[in-house]
Amino acid sequence: MKHEKFHYKSLEEVKQKADELQVTLPLSENTKTLFEPYELYGRKFSNRLAIAPMEGNDSDEEGFPTEHTINRYIEYAKGGASIIWYEATAVVPEGRSGKHQLMLCDKTKEAFKEMNRRVREAGREANGYEPYLIMQANHSGRYANPNGFPEPLIAYHHPIYEADKPLDDSRIVTDEYLDDLVLKFGEATKLCKEVGFDGIDIKSCHGYLFAELASAYTREGRYGGSFENRFRLLIDSIRQALPYEDDHFKVMMRLGIYDGFEYPYGWGMDPDGGLGEDYSEAVRLVKILTEDLGLKMINITMGNPYQNSHVTRPFDMGKYEAPEHPFEGVARMYRGVKEIKDHFPDLCVMASAPTYLRQFSPNLAAGAVEEGYCDFIDFGRLSFANTAFPNEIRETGGLDRRHTCITCGKCGDLIRAGYPCGCVVRKPDEFLAYYKEYQKGLKENGK
Ligand SMILES: Cc1cc2nc3c(=O)[nH]c(=O)nc-3n(C[C@H](O)[C@H](O)[C@H](O)COP(=O)(O)O)c2cc1C
Repeated sequence: MKHEKFHYKSLEEVKQKADELQVTLPLSENTKTLFEPYELYGRKFSNRLAIAPMEGNDSDEEGFPTEHTINRYIEYAKGGASIIWYEATAVVPEGRSGKHQLMLCDKTKEAFKEMNRRVREAGREANGYEPYLIMQANHSGRYANPNGFPEPLIAYHHPIYEADKPLDDSRIVTDEYLDDLVLKFGEATKLCKEVGFDGIDIKSCHGYLFAELASAYTREGRYGGSFENRFRLLIDSIRQALPYEDDHFKVMMRLGIYDGFEYPYGWGMDPDGGLGEDYSEAVRLVKILTEDLGLKMINITMGNPYQNSHVTRPFDMGKYEAPEHPFEGVARMYRGVKEIKDHFPDLCVMASAPTYLRQFSPNLAAGAVEEGYCDFIDFGRLSFANTAFPNEIRETGGLDRRHTCITCGKCGDLIRAGYPCGCVVRKPDEFLAYYKEYQKGLKENGK
């Protein structure tokens, strides 16, 4: 389906388009809402804006942050976001997404500590406050690529993901592997606290191992089939992490609540078929996470960026024509976020994926906070394009269109091709050369 490019000149035009498509987008003119303080964990957050986890693919081969990585985070801290949700970080070598993904382990921990010290200092000096630092602990599962070529570790055979390249059974992780992984996430939490993060995200989204288990209806054994089994890895890992909580250090998570593939090969899906949403299991899970495990903050996201990236990060330019208007993707995300917040009004909910709305993304964020959909919003692609977006919104009430992401997908191309990743359009000095190299490679391979 071919979609018109983003052309809206006013918030009114955005509203008209949403009405025409019959989708609901919370939108507000009053972006001051985003600077109303928020209290959680006994501390004050000075705004509702967060940097979303965005892999930069710029660590060294052992998973140490490089100067490039550290500078990226320093720039985020200067930009004024009250929360920096660090990118997916491996906690076991076989779970790395690439040779340049960050990895937290005994060997790298001092470098992480130093990075966090510098990031905090940069925030204090620039804005008078330190950002809240969350590390995203991940196992890449099906998308593991620790040595520069795919070495998938899967929960079960997935007919859609494996349509072109069927995988053999040896790729399915055993129950014993998962039992051991639970302990590894506990150890990672200890390190995460030691190196000065404020919290750890036990990530379950975007088709990685924890998230794939959510839809492992057809898997046998202790990690498949029933609700209890499919969430065993997540819940047990959180249980391993919780003893490290104290007044300062907390456990939270990024949760994908809708996969976008028909049941039984997707989670959050209408059990009668089709791509409709069904949040009943997500609500059941969040009840356990909050009431039994005591989590106070959950970041909501959707989709699988390798298979249906229009669900995770709506766009109008990219590798394929999305089967829906990008507004429908944004509306689905905020519908899901609202569903969780409506069920758990006391939970601190962070919403994702505002970037498609360009210069109107602050209006979406403000509307979402004002109308009680969520408490925070994290910005992904926008933060690559404009690290200073929070201070720009605070100072000017909005964003200059020329400082926004155009959703061209080039950052995604870079990461998939193994290059350091960032905004080719707004930061050509840093990333255009990599992009040209990537294009040259495509040509040489006849693509
Ligand atoms: C290049 C790239 C890297 C990403 N890396 C991560 C990651 O490490 N962890 C994660 O949870 N999401 C990751 N995401 C998803 C973003 O956090 C975010 O959810 C998505 O881009 C939608 O938000 P946006 O519309 O503000 O861009 C990544 C997205 C892109 C484009």
